[in-house]
Amino acid sequence: MKAFILDPSDLLVAPLERADTIPASWYLAPEMLDLEKEHVFTKTWQLVGRLEQVREAGEHIIAQIGDEPIVVVRGKDMVLRAFYNVCRHRGGPLAIEDGCASVLQCKYHGWTYALDGSLRGVPDFDRVELFDKSDFGLHPIRVAEWQGHVFINLANDALSLNAMTEGISEMIAPIELSKLQFVLRHDYLVKSNWKVYVDNYLEGYHVPLVHPELFKMYDFRSYKTEIAKWYSHQHSPLKPGENIYSADGGSAFYFFIYPNLMLNILPGRLQTNLVLPIDANTTRIIFDYYYAEGVTEELVREDLRFSDEVQQEDIEICELVQRGLRSRSYHTGRFSVEREIAVHHFQSLLKGSLRSTAEAR
Ligand code: FES
Ligand SMILES: [Fe+2]
Repeated sequence: MKAFILDPSDLLVAPLERADTIPASWYLAPEMLDLEKEHVFTKTWQLVGRLEQVREAGEHIIAQIGDEPIVVVRGKDMVLRAFYNVCRHRGGPLAIEDGCASVLQCKYHGWTYALDGSLRGVPDFDRVELFDKSDFGLHPIRVAEWQGHVFINLANDALSLNAMTEGISEMIAPIELSKLQFVLRHDYLVKSNWKVYVDNYLEGYHVPLVHPELFKMYDFRSYKTEIAKWYSHQHSPLKPGENIYSADGGSAFYFFIYPNLMLNILPGRLQTNLVLPIDANTTRIIFDYYYAEGVTEELVREDLRFSDEVQQEDIEICELVQRGLRSRSYHTGRFSVEREIAVHHFQSLLKGSLRSTAEAR
């Protein structure tokens, strides 16, 4: 196989009407995923959990962003902080699962850190010279909260989370995501590149053929896709009487926040999808389900069944697309101006992130 080289001309962004889709090699090469980890995932806001998991002092959640292990912890002063989950001694883990503790103690040799990240206890270190504990605190990371969810960003110079999500809260009002109740999580493993899954999410173009049942629910002529600077959103009125969520119709909103978070909002429920690359050909999708107070168990059951059915349809087509992208016959494609503006938007943002790579200079 040829060595993967990022061609600078592939990073140019053309208007939707004239643009090509990103090259097939971007979906296949492990080197591309390495670049994305470095220039996309470690430079953007990443969802790591729910605010309710870190309400009390000492409560902590762990996450992995790209290859970086992270811990988010509520301090005794009630400040929420995030750190690399890496001990300053020899790299051991401070937390290996979500939980609650009065200090962060490394699981290797027991160095202890206060919840503000400062190093406190260092067993059997009396004869060590030129060692100052204050030089060995945990490395801090930016953390922010939005609509009841906790995000971190490994880049110190990144735009604020509020700036990135500006306008979403107003658009979904009176729904407040923080008021919905978390009910369960469902994981899916997809044998495709993470961008195949994202591209697929970003267009309703495939709905008539891939999701015949879902298609019946929408008033498809009114299905709209709009883009903002850092997110896009698709929305469609639901046909009254044809959907399980609302007898009077209501609307479906599908927000995509660059680069890997989806918020699917239907009457009475939110489903978040977090897209996490495992390797160039494998992606983990985490579905978290939230419901409004008063939603019946029957609706929850039906929603889970129906969402799973739609997801299985998406997985099947994404895996077939991944196979197609591997074909020697395929290099790049084109976009429907009417239906694929959000795919073009995502791919343009991706190119922007990658323009900073040394390889592209
Ligand atoms: S690696 Fe943490 S105490 Fe040794
Ligand atoms: Fe789909």
